[in-house]
Amino acid sequence: MCGIVGYVGERDAGPVLLDCLKRLEYRGYDSAGVGVIQEGRLELRRSAGKILELERVMEQRPLHGRAGIAHTRWATHGRPSAANAHPHSDCASSLAVVHNGIIENHRSLRRALESQGHRFGSETDTEVIPHLIESRRGSIEAATQEAVQELEGDYALGIISRREPEKLVAVRSGGPPLSVGFAPDGFFLTSDASAILPYTREVLSLEEGEMAVLSREGVRLVTFGGRAVDRPPTRVPWDAETAQKGGFPHFMLKEIWEQPRAIRDTWGGRVDLEAGEVRLAELGLEGEALARVRRIVLVACGTSWHASLVGKHVLESLCRIPVEVDVASEYRYRSPIVDPWTLTIAISQSGETADTLGAVRESRARQSMVVAICNVVGSTLAREADGVLYTHAGPEIGVASTKAFTTQLVALDLLAIHMARAKGTLSPEAARTLLHELAEIPCLVEDMLGRAEGLRDLGAALRSSRSVLYLGRGIQYPLALEGALKLKEISYIHAEGYPAGEMKHGPIALIDRAVPVVAIAPQGRLYEKTLSNIEEVRARDGRVIALASEDDREIAGKADHVFRLPRTSELLMPILTAVPLQLLAYYAAVLRGCDVDQPRNLAKSVTVE
Ligand code: G6P
Repeated sequence: MCGIVGYVGERDAGPVLLDCLKRLEYRGYDSAGVGVIQEGRLELRRSAGKILELERVMEQRPLHGRAGIAHTRWATHGRPSAANAHPHSDCASSLAVVHNGIIENHRSLRRALESQGHRFGSETDTEVIPHLIESRRGSIEAATQEAVQELEGDYALGIISRREPEKLVAVRSGGPPLSVGFAPDGFFLTSDASAILPYTREVLSLEEGEMAVLSREGVRLVTFGGRAVDRPPTRVPWDAETAQKGGFPHFMLKEIWEQPRAIRDTWGGRVDLEAGEVRLAELGLEGEALARVRRIVLVACGTSWHASLVGKHVLESLCRIPVEVDVASEYRYRSPIVDPWTLTIAISQSGETADTLGAVRESRARQSMVVAICNVVGSTLAREADGVLYTHAGPEIGVASTKAFTTQLVALDLLAIHMARAKGTLSPEAARTLLHELAEIPCLVEDMLGRAEGLRDLGAALRSSRSVLYLGRGIQYPLALEGALKLKEISYIHAEGYPAGEMKHGPIALIDRAVPVVAIAPQGRLYEKTLSNIEEVRARDGRVIALASEDDREIAGKADHVFRLPRTSELLMPILTAVPLQLLAYYAAVLRGCDVDQPRNLAKSVTVE
C-alpha cells in the first residue's frame, strides 16, 4: 500500500529512484512521483497512472542530483491524479514529503494552516505535513521533530529540503514499515527492502517513534524525543534475482510454479520424519506455555484469513482445542473474549497489514500469548509477536497471494502436529504418517503444474462468465472462498465461495448456463454429500468444473470438466486444491487481457485500516 523510496549518495538520484520505484510498484500503482534537489532547487515530477507514465515524464524532463525521494501511490484521500501524487511540497517549494499511511487529523490541521495563509494544491491528507514542517523553525530535522508531535495517525515519511540539499529525513510512527539501506556508495530509504536489493541487502528497520537522518556521510537514528539509538543493520535473506520474474510472463505464474520449492523450504529443517516430530523451538510454545493453551484464536485478512479457516480444521482435529477464526478488522473492534489461556495466532504474508497488527495488539492487551505465521523476516508482526513461525515462500510480488497461502497451510500443519504431539492428542505413528504425506506434497504439486495446460482450457470456459460460484465442504470450504477471491481479484469476474451444503439456501437461484460452478470435490468424508450438491447444480442446467481425485470414476458423468487431484490425507488436501484454483483464475484473467500482477484498486500490503 503505497511505496516509498529515497536515496542520498554518490549516484545520480533521479535514475536510481526510478529504478527502485519500479520494483515497488506492486505496493500501489495509481500514480507516482519523484522529488530531487537539483542544483539547489526542489524539482518534482509526478504523474497519474503507472510508473511507465512517470518514466515518460522523466525522459522529457530528467532529474539529476545527489538526494531525492519517490513514491508510488494507492489512493486513500483524493483520487489518483498528478496533483494528488507524492511528493507534496510546502508554499515556498523548499521541502518535499512522501508519505505512506493516514493522517487522521488532517482536516483540522489543514483548516488551521489555511487560516495562517498556507495554500494547498491537492486533496490529500499528506499535504498538511510539508506545510506543518514549513511553519516550524530550525533545521529540517528539528522542524520535523516538532511537526510530528501534531500528527495523529499511522505514517512513514521521507523528507528532503533544498536548505539541506544532501540530507534525507525518515520518520516512522505506527504501522507502515520503513527501512534504511546501507550501500557502499550511499544510503537508501524504503518501505520494502526488495526495492533496493540490487544496491544493498544490509537494512535497518525503523521502529515506531523513530527518525533517521541520512546524509552522504552516514545514518543517524534518534527517537521522536531526540534520544540517539544504536542498532546494527540486518542482512535480507533474499537477493535481487529471487525478486525478479525469471522468464515467466507474470510474477503470479512464477510464484505459483515456485510452490514446490517454497513448501519444501517451509517444512525443511523442522521435521524429524523418523521420530514423527516437528521441532519449532523458535516459537517458545512448549511445556508450561503450551499447557496453558485452552483456546486458540486465529486472526488475519484476505488470503491469510482463508488459510486461518483451514487452520481451524487442522488444529481442532489434531489438538482437540477449540479454535475461533476472525477477520482481523472485525476482531479488533468487537471487544473479543480473550485471556491468558488463549493463544492468538496471527497470519500475514507481509507482517505489515494494519488490521492484523491492530488485532494482535488487542490480544496482547488482554494478556494472550501471540504467535505469528509470517513470510517477511523482521516485519512489524514478527517483531511484536512472542514467537514467529516463518514461512519460507521467498518474496511474493504478485498482488494475488499464491505461494504465501500454501506455505501458510504448511506452517499451520506443522504447528498443529507439534502441539498435538506435545499434548498427546496425536500418536507418534499418526504424526509420522502425516509428516511423510507432507513430505510428498511438493512432488504432487509438481505433478499438477505439469498438467497446467489443461487448466488453461478451463480458464477459457470461465472467461466470459457473468459470475462464478465456488463450492466446497468442510476443510475445502475455505478453498472455495480462496478460489473465488483469486478469480475476482485478477479477472474482475464476480465470484462467490459457498459451503456446498448451503447452496440450496440462496445461491442456487443464480444457477444458469452463464454462471458456472467450480466444485471442489476430492475423495473424503464429505465426498458423497458434495456430489449430491453437484447433482443439484446439474438439475438446473448449471455447468460444472470439478476438482476431483485421480481415481474418482463417478465424477466424469456429473461434471462438464474435471481436473484430477493427486491423493493425500484430507487434512493436507487444501494445499493441493489451492494450485488448480490459482491457475484457473490466472488463465481466466490472462485470457481476458487483465493486468494479473497489478489488478485495479488492490495493493499487496494494506498498511492502513
Ligand atoms: C491484501 C493483499 C492480499 C492479502 C491481504 C493480507 O489485500 O492483496 O493478497 O491476502 O492483503 O495480507 P497479509 O500480508 O497480511 O497476508
